[in-house]
Amino acid sequence: MAEIQLRNVGKRWGTFVGVHNFDLTIADREFLVLLGPSGCGKTTTMRMIAGLEDVTEGQILIDGKVVNDLEPKDRDVAMVFQSYALYPNMNVYENIRFPLKVRGIDAASHDEKVRRAASMVELDDFLHRKPAELSGGQRQRVALARAIVREPNVFLMDEPLSNLDAKLRVSTRAQIKNLSHELAVTTIYVTHDQIEAMTLADRVVVMKKGIVQQVGSPTEIYDHPANTFVASFIGSPAMNLIDGRVEGGVFTAQHTRVEGVALPDGPVTLGFRAEDAVLAGQGQIEAPIYTIELLGDATMISVRIGGALVSVKADKTYRAEIDDRIAVSIPVEACHFFAAESGERIALATA
Ligand SMILES: Nc1ncnc2c1ncn2[C@@H]1O[C@H](COP(=O)(O)OP(=O)(O)OP(=O)(O)O)[C@@H](O)[C@H]1O
Ligand SMILES: [Mg+2]
Repeated sequence: MAEIQLRNVGKRWGTFVGVHNFDLTIADREFLVLLGPSGCGKTTTMRMIAGLEDVTEGQILIDGKVVNDLEPKDRDVAMVFQSYALYPNMNVYENIRFPLKVRGIDAASHDEKVRRAASMVELDDFLHRKPAELSGGQRQRVALARAIVREPNVFLMDEPLSNLDAKLRVSTRAQIKNLSHELAVTTIYVTHDQIEAMTLADRVVVMKKGIVQQVGSPTEIYDHPANTFVASFIGSPAMNLIDGRVEGGVFTAQHTRVEGVALPDGPVTLGFRAEDAVLAGQGQIEAPIYTIELLGDATMISVRIGGALVSVKADKTYRAEIDDRIAVSIPVEACHFFAAESGERIALATA
């Protein structure tokens, strides 16, 4: 078992802050995803947990024990990197076996361990191939098996799917999810792909510029984004955000008028999701269509409001032309409001 505690963990290089005040307890067997744009500090956080990067502030504990000064090899964590670095001269079997040899684990147990790990990632039939004779997805699975064979207390995975094409990514993602269920090992998984985060995680940590923006289950983060950054990062398409003003309980922006908004007068940002709005005879938004996209299972309609594109998901049979005027109705309960300056979510905004 392994519970990981990050206590106000920070990383600085000179004056540059890579990770700021990261404070979180990761439960035993939890699947935690670190999500955020490039450079937000995901890899740095993971490397600190692995012991590959010194901690400048705070403490990291594994099962209640401070590990700040513990060597990576003494932390019982296995890391799978984006570039999976297999040994080109060894076949799949030897690649998977390698960590057992290095660790001096009883040779009599190797064969069973290697075959079991290989079987978990469905590589049974490829044990004698060299890495060059494998597809990208198969190589990625060798790297996974090489981590599995160590039977670590903690798995750290840094963008393990990023070298795979879209289709393989989806199938390997499903495999990782199934595997994590089977192995039941605490896992920290880094990605900048919000769909990967939503599909894999027990909890997601959304980061921006070294600072944690929100921690929550995929549903919490999707349904109650803590600020406009999270709202615009999660979801495909991201949440629509319209900058406007409340005056006398009415929110207005270009083409937009929402009544019954129980907020003090002043600037605010209205948010709603494409799938929560409906095209109707009349609605809070009335504007000409900017573009129409046929997605197969739905038709996505966009209008322009101020500088922003606002999307509405319509039925797959819906057809219209660019510049046709539409009305968009947004149910009161689907409206989110965010403070104009800080972007922070404003609780219970409508009445
Ligand atoms: N050794 C270093 N010295 C100085 N700055 C560094 C060092 N390593 C990383 N950084 C900076 O710290 C920040 C966080 O880097 P990190 O690699 O953790 O980002 P990331 O979230 O993993 O991004 P990506 O999605 O691109 O992998 C970046 O701005 C990066 O330039
Ligand atoms: Mg990274």
